[in-house]
Amino acid sequence: MKLNPKEKAFASKLRNFITEFISVFFIVALNGTFLVLILVHLIDKGFGKSALALFGVLYLLLSCTISACLIYVVKGRVYFNKIKVFCDVANEVAKGDFAVRAPIYFDKPKSEMDFLTVNFNKMLTEISSLENMRNNFIADVSHEIKTPLSVIQGYADLLQEKNLSPEKRAEYTHRLSLAIEALTNLVTNILKLNKIENQGIVQKEAFSLDEQIRCCILAFEEKIEEKKLQLNVELEEITITSDKSLLEIVWNNIISNAIKYTDFNGKIDVELKSENGKTIVKIRDNGCGMSKETLSRCFEKFYQGDTSHSQEGNGLGLALVKQVINLLDSEIKIDSSLQKGTQISVII
Ligand SMILES: Nc1ncnc2c1ncn2[C@@H]1O[C@H](COP(=O)(O)OP(=O)(O)O)[C@@H](O)[C@H]1O
Ligand SMILES: [Mg+2]
Repeated sequence: MKLNPKEKAFASKLRNFITEFISVFFIVALNGTFLVLILVHLIDKGFGKSALALFGVLYLLLSCTISACLIYVVKGRVYFNKIKVFCDVANEVAKGDFAVRAPIYFDKPKSEMDFLTVNFNKMLTEISSLENMRNNFIADVSHEIKTPLSVIQGYADLLQEKNLSPEKRAEYTHRLSLAIEALTNLVTNILKLNKIENQGIVQKEAFSLDEQIRCCILAFEEKIEEKKLQLNVELEEITITSDKSLLEIVWNNIISNAIKYTDFNGKIDVELKSENGKTIVKIRDNGCGMSKETLSRCFEKFYQGDTSHSQEGNGLGLALVKQVINLLDSEIKIDSSLQKGTQISVII
């Protein structure tokens, strides 16, 4: 018969009560009977009242000490059994099984052993979720690396054909180099993500934020012109003390997304201002916008909401942004609606 945790807790309490009741009952009954028998024997032998009283007191003291020791041993045994079960569970964990849990026989933890059990189980839950995340990450990385690799393999095979026209050869070489670029970007992003995740320390310095954002925009000039995007930049002169190279990752990713997800002749606004002691950067586009699902999952590693642009990215951009924002104790807000556009606000 399988008991639920409440029934288990009740059964355990009942078992403890019965064990303690029987031990106390036997100890009192045995002691009492012994004392009476010995006193009757001493009276028969003609001992006086004071001698009998002295003997009674000594006997009670001795028997109480022995009984206390006995109870201590019995309780110790119960404790020892709990620790033994705990050790068995710990052994399973040491062998790599993070699905096991230490059994819980109580409603609310009271003793140190109860707290140890509860916290041990919490720790196991935490480890198994980390283990799951690690496994998923490895599966995602392998999958993402396979795609550009198979493209590279395909073009490498095509380039080996003997009767290839110079135009075809040039086209395949171009595509091959794009696939290699995608793979390089992917590996660079994975390494950056890993570095940021393991990096607890930020290297702060004072720098001009408006200048940094302007430089990032300049780096995308060619793409902006290519798509004939209308760009509005309003930047207050603001100097901040923060991690410059980490913030560069944020602007680069948000601006490149705004360009990527906005159609030809679209509009992008970049705004930097200071409000109530906070520095706010807003990057707005009138592009394709995000669906509700994309909005709720866009910070997940490798998640790509818009499949039509999936070749141009790897779904790590916003995951990186989020990691940086967390590390810098800042805030990011996204307002987006399909076919209308997206506004991303970063509050430092
Ligand atoms: N400005 C934007 N407009 C519309 N959708 C966006 C925008 N920025 C991000 N997204 C959505 O969020 C997803 C995750 O973004 P990101 O992590 O940068 O990955 P990707 O490599 O696909 O750009 C994108 O695939 C896209 O669906
Ligand atoms: Mg991106």
